[in-house]
Amino acid sequence: MRKPKVFITRLIPREGIDLLKETCEVEINPQDRPLHREELLAQVADKDGVIGMLSDRIDAEFFDAAKALRGYANFAVGFDNIDVAEATRRNMPVSNTPGVLTQATAELAWALLFAVARRIVETDRIMRSGAWPGLGPLQFIGADVSGKTLGIVGGGRIGTAMALMSKGFQMRVLYTNTSGKENQTLQAELRARLVSLDELLAESDFISIHTPLTPATRHLFKAETFARMKPAAILINTARGPIIKEDDLVAALGSRTIAGAGLDVYEFEPQMTAGLADLNNAVVVPHIGSATSSSRAGMSLLAARNLLAMLQGEKPESCLNPEIYA
Ligand code: GLV
Ligand code: GLV
Repeated sequence: MRKPKVFITRLIPREGIDLLKETCEVEINPQDRPLHREELLAQVADKDGVIGMLSDRIDAEFFDAAKALRGYANFAVGFDNIDVAEATRRNMPVSNTPGVLTQATAELAWALLFAVARRIVETDRIMRSGAWPGLGPLQFIGADVSGKTLGIVGGGRIGTAMALMSKGFQMRVLYTNTSGKENQTLQAELRARLVSLDELLAESDFISIHTPLTPATRHLFKAETFARMKPAAILINTARGPIIKEDDLVAALGSRTIAGAGLDVYEFEPQMTAGLADLNNAVVVPHIGSATSSSRAGMSLLAARNLLAMLQGEKPESCLNPEIYA
């Protein structure tokens, strides 16, 4: 029997590749960059299965080009790069990688929160420059974290994990949920309160974004939103860049409408909006939320298992359109 042909659009950790190679013919993008659109469409023409990245747009044009395709596995938990409705119309299963990167992403949100609150990156630059004159009582005053109010926008898997990590800091926790349903874990463990976005904005000292990017969350944070936050508030985004209107954020940070921001994601990735790089009250890292060895290995294995199931005509573990198997 012919082995299924699989294409992986970027080199991923070997765990999943090894698993796929047991039963499939595996081809991997040899370049250390995302493929250009035409390259991607040409590569997938004869493939039975594809593992792709956030930078790959998986839409009608992609499915038209991938004539032999039986399944697509995203190497990411977020799936705003996939037109799931189009996949479902074509009875094409698609999957993502939830669960395996939850703790790593929540931990990065905390790393950013502390980096901004205690001015870690700004003061690291000063140390390295040799400009530090020695300890001074008025130098580099930052923000307290313990006992403050943490606002979680999106109380799903990652938002819940981030909130639970606040336990040691005795914080008051508020959260919003698109479902509008109370999160039992947050209520039981932290006595967190489900609130409106308005209340969360007005009350929180730290706001951490953990909602998916959808038409409803695009530019959820813009000039009017920043105006409703406390001037001492710090905003953390490890979710998706376009949830924040980035030029409004640059203005709000510059005018101290809000105190600071820690960003892992950008509206126009990999570009940053002009001015952001000049702001000392912004800490910026390059989309590294899931970048730990265990998370990336877990993503690799889960994407591979998902794809193998789809190639066998079975519902994958983390299917984005399970209704096609009904
Ligand atoms: C990363 O951004 C992911 O969605 O996995
Ligand atoms: C600071 O280093 C202190 O000892 O208070």
